[in-house]
Amino acid sequence: MLRTLFVSLAVSAVFAGVPSPEETKRLVDHFSDAEHFKNEHHNKQFDHDAFLGEDQAKTFDQLSPEESKRRLGIIVDKIDSDKDGFVTLVELKDWIRYTQKRYIDEDVERHWRQHNPQNEDSIPWETYRKNVYGFMDEMDPKELKTPNSEGFTYSSLLKRDRRRWHYADADKDDALNRTEFAAFLHPEENTGMRDIVVLETLEDVDKDNDGKVSIDEYIGDLYKTEDGEDEEEPDWVKQEREQFTGYRDTNKDGYMDADEVKEWIAPPEFDHAEAEARHLVFEADADADERLTKQEIVDKYDLFVGSQATDFGEAFARHDEF
Ligand SMILES: *[C@@H]1O[C@H](CO)[C@@H](O)[C@H](O)[C@H]1NC(C)=O
Repeated sequence: MLRTLFVSLAVSAVFAGVPSPEETKRLVDHFSDAEHFKNEHHNKQFDHDAFLGEDQAKTFDQLSPEESKRRLGIIVDKIDSDKDGFVTLVELKDWIRYTQKRYIDEDVERHWRQHNPQNEDSIPWETYRKNVYGFMDEMDPKELKTPNSEGFTYSSLLKRDRRRWHYADADKDDALNRTEFAAFLHPEENTGMRDIVVLETLEDVDKDNDGKVSIDEYIGDLYKTEDGEDEEEPDWVKQEREQFTGYRDTNKDGYMDADEVKEWIAPPEFDHAEAEARHLVFEADADADERLTKQEIVDKYDLFVGSQATDFGEAFARHDEF
């Protein structure tokens, strides 16, 4: 089976060096709440989100390299749960699962309180719509229908949220209880939401709205050249082209349809925490013993936590953990 082949490729990528780590990250990405990565910057941001949780990753973005390294050292001690001085693949995988779960739980809690301050059993659609899109009621209906206008963008977002709401609303009472609301906010985490994740991904990538993904749309989603730059494609992009033709487009009609997109982003048994842990171990394991010392991790601090910012904000308020 192609899917099995793909999953084993993704998981063995770290050892064989094929296919691209970008592919693995792409998959991981769709299971997390990170936005689609489209260039180096986002790739790194994605690693940081997975390793730290999105909220912590933002905090680290404000820190100087020295302070990042210091805090990273403290985190490494926590990840090394058996305190033997090495971070193993399993310890790293458990850590990534833990940070992701913590982030999602907190995110759901925050939104739940925001839309439901009285802590009722469920949030009716109309309440959510008013909170998030209520301002549209004041807008000129004509503008909402004018392509490329701000109003048009809001209308599309509203439509997308409305559709996703239906998918999350298991008992079809048009109100979401906490479980359903979590599925609405983080559909990638929820197997029952797989179809809508596939549909939304297809729509994101399908720029000409013909209902299928061409090779140019596929590549365009993964890789963008800077405006006006005319550089040669990196090797991983060439490999992605071969992936598209050789694997993704299973029926060889030149496009990825919904079923093929589904195979691409969501092999059901794909373990994103494990894939991300393998990726990090592979990148940082200087002596190739398949486990990481604190030194190996801190040497690669940029991979784990390093900031993309060039000027650092004021020393960040100290967090309890540090
Ligand atoms: C929410 O409703 C679903 C059924 O639609 C149910 O399975 C789930 O347990 C409920 N969750 C809570 C927190 O009540």
